[in-house]
Amino acid sequence: MQINQDHLYKNYPDNILKDVDAEKTLKIAADAAENAYAPYSKFKVGACALFEDGKTYSGCNVENASYGLTLCAERNALSSAITEGQKTKLIAVAIYSPNAKSCFPCGACRQWITEFSKEAVVIVESSEGKPQVFSIKELLPFSFELDQTTSL
Ligand code: THU
Repeated sequence: MQINQDHLYKNYPDNILKDVDAEKTLKIAADAAENAYAPYSKFKVGACALFEDGKTYSGCNVENASYGLTLCAERNALSSAITEGQKTKLIAVAIYSPNAKSCFPCGACRQWITEFSKEAVVIVESSEGKPQVFSIKELLPFSFELDQTTSL
């Protein structure tokens, strides 16, 4: 299907999305959101991380009575991938919430995504129910890196 790339970062490689089934990743994220443990916020989130070898990993948010200990869906998906030995490049992270029209990743999750690829894309559902694609570079420009060789 044709996905909306209007928001794609202008320097992003044209062919990066050729193997990405955006709707499938959003469906996996939506299924994971059903398992969310969100008794406090009631805000369910699911994520699907797609890697270069085609494997996908899902995650949901897991809250805690000590609110600040809550784990986000995206970081749970990425943790699963690493735990299962995933070594290829991160291609995309899809995020879905049944409680929001478009569910964008929080700042901490953006930093986690950029850790595994500076060229990953983030897929969220638009208010019309269509996949929308953003590059992690446009969602988190000037991300933190230990090797701070960039200067302004
Ligand atoms: N949440 C995520 O799972 N991912 C995000 O990127 C933002 C927020 C969760 C955390 C919490 O359980 C709920 O959404 C409300 O903040």
